[in-house]
Amino acid sequence: MASSTTKTTTKTTPKTVLITGANGYIGNAVARAFVRAGSDWLVYGLIRSASSRAISALAAEEITPIIGAIDDRSAHEAIIAQLPPRGVDVVISTTESWPDYEGHYHNVVALLRLIAESKPSSLTSLTTGGGGTDGSRIQVGGGNTKTKTKTKTKTKTGKPLLIFTSGCKDYGADPTHLLSSSSSSGIILHPHPHPHPHPHPHTEETPLSSLSILRPRTQLSSQIFDRLGDLYATVLVRPINLYGRSGSFFREWFDVFSAAAAAAATEGRQVLVVPSRSGEGREICQGLHVDDCAEAYVALATEHFVRDDKREREQEEEVEEGEGDVAGEAFNISSQGREETVDGIVRALCEEYGVGYERVRYVKPEDLKDGENPWPSQLVVDWPQLVGDGKLRRVTGWRDRRPLFKEAIGVYRRAYEAAKEEGGKGWENAKKAEETVKALGDR
Ligand SMILES: NC(=O)c1ccc[n+]([C@@H]2O[C@H](COP(=O)([O-])OP(=O)(O)OC[C@H]3O[C@@H](n4cnc5c(N)ncnc54)[C@H](OP(=O)(O)O)[C@@H]3O)[C@@H](O)[C@H]2O)c1
Repeated sequence: MASSTTKTTTKTTPKTVLITGANGYIGNAVARAFVRAGSDWLVYGLIRSASSRAISALAAEEITPIIGAIDDRSAHEAIIAQLPPRGVDVVISTTESWPDYEGHYHNVVALLRLIAESKPSSLTSLTTGGGGTDGSRIQVGGGNTKTKTKTKTKTKTGKPLLIFTSGCKDYGADPTHLLSSSSSSGIILHPHPHPHPHPHPHTEETPLSSLSILRPRTQLSSQIFDRLGDLYATVLVRPINLYGRSGSFFREWFDVFSAAAAAAATEGRQVLVVPSRSGEGREICQGLHVDDCAEAYVALATEHFVRDDKREREQEEEVEEGEGDVAGEAFNISSQGREETVDGIVRALCEEYGVGYERVRYVKPEDLKDGENPWPSQLVVDWPQLVGDGKLRRVTGWRDRRPLFKEAIGVYRRAYEAAKEEGGKGWENAKKAEETVKALGDR
């Protein structure tokens, strides 16, 4: 399979892509990735802030700003009015709002319906058989994928593409996902003997089972095919925890180690408590660089249009809708085969911050005393999870390229500190998210 970055769609006019939440952590990275992908794409970014700083931050990256509040339905027409006259070919949805995920979700769906309905050439051509044009052949029962049927496709679907963002936490953490950190030659699985003797990575077929605080996202995101499949070729993506740039939840690593280093300097030799179900930090702490994640969105969109172009060129009478179609499918975006462990990261951070490794004390979560846990969200350090992304790699040729978190920890630390210093959107959103998770509390 050719690398996704080498694929291009048939050269006509550039396609238009609208990214919602274009000043957010993922949204901004995705918007910049589409700009980098070159002349195939004209990139529009929806933000709710009309501040000149927010607008010029997008403009500087060659992203055309579209201003409007998704949660204000009376503003939706004004958003449509700012879109290019020929409408958008791709919408990437990356916003989420806490604590009212559901209220915001319904507003997102309403806006996305209006965007598709306003597209001049929308739904001009037909998909026949296997349930018709209304997306009804898509099943979300297992939560994840459409039924594999043979569908006669006369020509392009004519629908715009929607890539909707959820996250791998939809599958839940799995304490059986432990790794040995003692092997320098590679990662060795050390399954916890109980209750699952053989840990398997979560795939798109894994039943969904998330934390109570994330349940609205888990449930509603998997319904996106039903909600919008009639108007969009719809894709659901689930990224793993991300790192790089302003850091998102991985910033916790830097905050906790920076506090530990400062405490050591002023108060002597403090112990740094790290929750660990293995008691040794052998848990997987899977992460992916945000820019690699963003490239996956581009790869999926490119794959969709490459197939669409091929259909049109060859006037295929019959197309097998098996693996290879991105529409109607869910895709994990992770770092399969390059997983890190808590202890591997801890050791790299000890070196980076000059904190003696002997000061680290791994404590089983059930043994943590009140006020002893310095980790704000419990969604990174104490989140053992192994997520497979083989489907994304097979279908699009995408692969992750950035150094692992522990491999370039100084680079990522400096990027985070620069974002913090600048106090930009990425930093503010990460802080807000962390506070929200803390306030919502229960697991
Ligand atoms: N970060 C990760 O590691 C990660 C991993 C997997 C999945 N995810 C998922 O990816 C999605 C995006 O996450 P993120 O990390 O990019 O979050 P983020 O940095 O907080 O960005 C969220 C975006 O949503 C916008 N937004 C929030 N509430 C809104 C509202 N009521 N109306 C309109 N816009 C609103 C924000 O705009 P303002 O700037 O105006 O607030 C921001 O642009 C979320 O669904 C998240 O669960 C994230």
